[in-house]
Amino acid sequence: MKISVIGTGYVGLVTGTCLAETGNEVLCIDINEDKVKQMQNGVVPIYEPHLDVLFERNIKANRLRFSTSLKEGLDHGDIIFLALPTPEDEDGSADLSYVLGAAKDIGQIMDSYKVIVDKSTVPVGTADRVREAIAKETTVDFDVVSNPEFLREGFAVDDFLKPERIVVGSSSDRATQLMEKLYKPFVRSGNPIIIMDEKSAELTKYAANSFLATKITFMNEIANFCEKVGADVDKVRAGMGTDSRIGKRFLFPGIGYGGSCFPKDVKALHKSGKEHNYDFDILNAVIKVNDVQKKILIPRILSYFNNDLKGKTFAIWGLAFKPETDDIREAPSLYMIEELLEHGVNLNVFDPEAMPNVKRKFGDQLNFTSDMYQAIKDVDALIICTEWSIFRTPDFNKLKSNMKNLVIFDGRNLYDVNDIKAEGFHYSSIGRKSIN
Ligand code: UDX
Repeated sequence: MKISVIGTGYVGLVTGTCLAETGNEVLCIDINEDKVKQMQNGVVPIYEPHLDVLFERNIKANRLRFSTSLKEGLDHGDIIFLALPTPEDEDGSADLSYVLGAAKDIGQIMDSYKVIVDKSTVPVGTADRVREAIAKETTVDFDVVSNPEFLREGFAVDDFLKPERIVVGSSSDRATQLMEKLYKPFVRSGNPIIIMDEKSAELTKYAANSFLATKITFMNEIANFCEKVGADVDKVRAGMGTDSRIGKRFLFPGIGYGGSCFPKDVKALHKSGKEHNYDFDILNAVIKVNDVQKKILIPRILSYFNNDLKGKTFAIWGLAFKPETDDIREAPSLYMIEELLEHGVNLNVFDPEAMPNVKRKFGDQLNFTSDMYQAIKDVDALIICTEWSIFRTPDFNKLKSNMKNLVIFDGRNLYDVNDIKAEGFHYSSIGRKSIN
């Protein structure tokens, strides 16, 4: 099939590349000329495991091409994916100007039947607004479909190629059939393509992300309470998670959820509620708890150093909002860095992938190190913000001979409390007993 993808951000690029992988001819459109040139030269603009291999293979096979021309995109594709940003507006709602702007342009250019697919995460009712924006400009027949993505960064290629489900919101049989044909190769194992109306599809995405954010936040509160009563959140998690109605996944407490989806989507759904005179009390609480959780280690650090951090040097391991990505959007590490800099701390930081992005934000204020052990040289404490695998089994002898103080504040519960006690560290983690 002939597919065009408008917008080559994270979602657009993964969608375009994976659709090419099943033999479709894909043309990706972006207004950023430098980025398009870069991609035409075979360079993937983001870090996402396995994407580079698929990218190269499909460019070589001439199934994946790039252009800055929307007209070319509309001439090429029978299905047009909109994978445009929907950033958070000042009031927390989703800014639809990119999506509706593209819809208007599409209406002006389109000269034959197209299926326009909303891939971006958009508030309920957006498919109708996209339809109106296009219809205003043209008399040509078209359909608008909502097809939310559920890709996790770091696993996006896998999630796209082997989805647990595909959600398609469509009220046109013609469009539904095309979407089913397109996605059939991805659900051979029997996972469902769930067809519904556009509004339900739009809400499914927000509901799923908000539920997961709530699940994590619930565990963060349980973890905080564990510390108060002397319980161990690892045990509570194991006990709870084995109940199949609860499930084992997304029960890991930490220094808050981050990333490009959860924070934005929870706020947008909350805001949407308000617009329809519905107050999502639960989401309000989730937002509040997560804001506090991101900084939960700060009072502990202050208390350990008698409220005087000036001139101290700390190492931070992990800057990305989660492992296997270079994405730092809403990363808890950023909140940590800002607070610690305000207290006059010198920071040595290390992350396997995200350092260039953090450098752009903080520049010379941080000391970027080339490996995890260089970061801990002569430091007063080590703070862990992201659970990259490489941090899980460090050489504790190296830590002991290089750190000035044997102090670890672990925002991701990487180590067994008893093991670390035996190594002689002061250790503070989330929802478990502290070792002094
Ligand atoms: C998420 C959704 O999972 C995906 O379906 C959606 O399409 C986009 O948003 P992503 O943001 O890439 O994906 O990351 P995810 O793995 O879901 O983690 C989100 C945040 O929750 C991270 O900050 C992570 O550290 C945190 N998290 C996750 C926890 O704190 N505890 C957990 O148990 C799981």
